[in-house]
Amino acid sequence: MSTSRRRFLKTLGATAPALILAKPGLAIGHSTSATTTDAFTITSAGTVAVTPFQQALNIPPEAHPVSMDMQGRPIYELTEQNATVEIIPGLQTDIIGYDGMTPGPTIRVNANQEVIVRHINESDIKTTTHLHGGHMPTGNDGHPVDLVEPGTSKDYLYTNKQLPTTLWYHDHAMDVTGRNVYSGLAGFYIIEDNYERSLRLPSGHNEIPLVIQDRTFAEDGSLIYKNTKSGEKGDTVLVNGTPFPYVQVSNTRYRFRILNGSNARVYKLALSNGAKFIQIGSDGGLLEAPVSRAAMVVAPAERVDVIIDFGDAAIGDQIILKNLAAKGGPTSEIMRFDVTKRRMERSILPTVLRSTERLDPAAAVITRRWEFDFVGGEKPWVINGLPYEENRVDAYPQVGTTEIWELANISKVGHPIHIHDVMWQILDINGKPPGPHDAGWKDTFKIPPNGTMRVIGRFDDYVGDINDIKSAYMMHCHILEHEDNAMMMQFIVVE
Ligand code: C2O
Ligand code: CU
Ligand code: CU
Repeated sequence: MSTSRRRFLKTLGATAPALILAKPGLAIGHSTSATTTDAFTITSAGTVAVTPFQQALNIPPEAHPVSMDMQGRPIYELTEQNATVEIIPGLQTDIIGYDGMTPGPTIRVNANQEVIVRHINESDIKTTTHLHGGHMPTGNDGHPVDLVEPGTSKDYLYTNKQLPTTLWYHDHAMDVTGRNVYSGLAGFYIIEDNYERSLRLPSGHNEIPLVIQDRTFAEDGSLIYKNTKSGEKGDTVLVNGTPFPYVQVSNTRYRFRILNGSNARVYKLALSNGAKFIQIGSDGGLLEAPVSRAAMVVAPAERVDVIIDFGDAAIGDQIILKNLAAKGGPTSEIMRFDVTKRRMERSILPTVLRSTERLDPAAAVITRRWEFDFVGGEKPWVINGLPYEENRVDAYPQVGTTEIWELANISKVGHPIHIHDVMWQILDINGKPPGPHDAGWKDTFKIPPNGTMRVIGRFDDYVGDINDIKSAYMMHCHILEHEDNAMMMQFIVVE
């Protein structure tokens, strides 16, 4: 690869104040969307504002195994590639994507079926791929320093020994995860089983994964990455890589596996017709029973598995998925559902989904307290006062044991804290038990400013090697610029 990177991310440092945060442009284009036929407007400040609901929703293709290994495990192949794609009509955007697309292909597997995902790095950056929410042997977790050089590849073994759920794979390279994910390196990974299929939830065309990601585009179409330490937020909301898309639906139930794949933005999702979401799952899979919700706050990396019932809608209805957290402005709308087709309802909405084993606090062998704070400087975000250090391990939990982790946010901003390896259950948030939507298995936790959450987990399987840092699992803030700026620690599970 040439040393002068191709026209790629415009990374704005402190020396380029003129382009920073084109706030004046936000009002342009968006509010005039009803009258303009242009798909986008170039704002005075050098960014592009996209008129919403001009493009159909993209549904990422599903990957198929290319071969099998000696043990009969299907092998999937994904290739990291620099690519130029059209995200904004008429403009070209340079990305780095799995198979040159963003989001990458969706991988769909059965629980307990072991698979190999071979990542071939043809891009011009070093990569490491983490399967977020996955429980897999050490060495396959995409440790930030377990880097795959351009021109090489790595086989990741995923055992899928866990409950079915919506996972996602994304880059996790040391110090530059935010930039790399922003560039396009993210995709869905869905685990299913026969029990879940027997529930007859909406499936096929009625089951759609949605990844929500905000980006800022320059007037030449290139992505602008401001490279702040506070968290990257864009003025254009993409769903499955398309800005403010619409999707045509029938007057039936749909299952949407919603992922907040944004670097830093928290959304509060609601429907413009006042209908409620029926939440059936969270990060770690199905809830015990459906929960009806008028609005859902979703932080980076969290998943909400919901059913939207368009059965009461009239043909011709247009229902907007809104972001109430934006309080006006371009990111206050995300996408639109256009009810255009009449169909027979074929799905069932069960009253009971999956019974959940409750982890018992009395079984915990230890309570560890982790404090998340802001100290400023070069490495401003810290855990227990310390920035991430590659050669420091902060905990050695014993395999098979149950632990309580007390996640204490002593800073003034919320942090979505993510723990690798196993799924956890929330015991309490500021002393109060979680609502039913938060009572299932979770891997990412919204810790409110100055708030504390206690979570309980059991370190099933997969022991690391105390002499091999790459066998560590991570805990970090999933505001990716907080993670890249040191709000991360690692633990090694021991015998
Ligand atoms: Cu989705 Cu360690 O991250
Ligand atoms: Cu993870
Ligand atoms: Cu954070």
